[in-house]
Amino acid sequence: MNSPVSLDRLRAATPGVEHVLHFNNAGAALPPDVVLSTVISHLEREATIGGYEAATEATDRLEAVYDSLATLLGAKPDQMAVVENATRAWDMAVYGYPFMAGDRVLTCRGEYVSNVLALLQLQERHGIEVVLIEDDEHGQIDLDHLEDELAQGAAMVALTHAPTNGGLINPAAAVGALCEEHGAFYVLDACQSAGQVPLDVGILKCDVLSGTGRKYLRGPRGTGFLYAGPRALERIEPPFLDLHAAEWTGDRTYEIRTDARRFENWETYYAGKLGLGAAIDYTLELGVEATSKRILALGSELRSALDALDAVTTHDKGKIRGGIVTFAVDGIRSEDVQAQLSAQRINTSTSPAGHARLDLPHRGLPTLVRASVHYYNSEDEVDRFVSAVEQLR
Ligand SMILES: Cc1ncc(COP(=O)(O)O)c(C=O)c1O
Repeated sequence: MNSPVSLDRLRAATPGVEHVLHFNNAGAALPPDVVLSTVISHLEREATIGGYEAATEATDRLEAVYDSLATLLGAKPDQMAVVENATRAWDMAVYGYPFMAGDRVLTCRGEYVSNVLALLQLQERHGIEVVLIEDDEHGQIDLDHLEDELAQGAAMVALTHAPTNGGLINPAAAVGALCEEHGAFYVLDACQSAGQVPLDVGILKCDVLSGTGRKYLRGPRGTGFLYAGPRALERIEPPFLDLHAAEWTGDRTYEIRTDARRFENWETYYAGKLGLGAAIDYTLELGVEATSKRILALGSELRSALDALDAVTTHDKGKIRGGIVTFAVDGIRSEDVQAQLSAQRINTSTSPAGHARLDLPHRGLPTLVRASVHYYNSEDEVDRFVSAVEQLR
């Protein structure tokens, strides 16, 4: 994985690297050619023989996507659902959870913006109480504070493993162990960690895990997935049903299916689903252990090189930091940094302070520039990126 030969091979299989310096992998990574060809060839089959007929023809390959997801996460195929994105996956579980007034939900400073919005709405709707767990001295979720709050009783812990706005990788397995000890239902947002670090639901001890296809898994946009463990399948009814999630058994009766596919829609993006399967198989072939090491090392290299520049400060928290690097440049708005880099075909994004209200404003930080690396990025790209930042006006 770290040899130049294998990096050459990875880059040769990534058509986008010929066109852009892509440090927006936390937005959407450049897909490998196998993902592209899988999606395109299914769309071609749909155009040639018909959409329903193409799905029938691909039945076995579509089923295999659940096996791939299960292998990625150490889960069983019937515990996996494929949906449109990570938010929908998370929402299906959390909006479907049978909350009672007064239930406490513990969450962290890095919780994803849409998850916090949902929790605030559920607070208004059901009278749940959303409790914020503080950061520890490293900037990750404070396990002592979490344990204290769990001891006072909590229905659910909602944790974002790798927040969107920085390098932090939260200690998700330690949180799972505490949830198990205190009987709290554990919802893990693994949107940025799936494909970035190894994930095993047996080790994480989560009840629910949500993820997306397009980021560190390098799958197509418009794909996401949900792991629903035994307690999730026992407790959670989907907030809405359709003819895929349930069967109409009599004039006024219905039965919800027993597996995790109850959280899916009948109509779905078949080409994307196959592309997601191809992306996961590609990831598994490379081995997440190995690719994760490279992502973390490149992230650390980029962070150190940016910090060495006079006018630049990085702002990533955590004991363990991943491939997402956030920084600010003195005297230049982050939006302008992104625009100037984009004009040189260097892709980054910004992390708006308004999308991280429990974190960035709390640290006195404005919107930051987010440069997120993947294993297929090269050391040469890190150097080019740092020179481009140094030369910004
Ligand atoms: C940590 C985290 N959770 C959830 C999401 C939402 O993912 P999606 O856009 O696939 O719904 C994102 C997207 O950036 C994210 O970074």
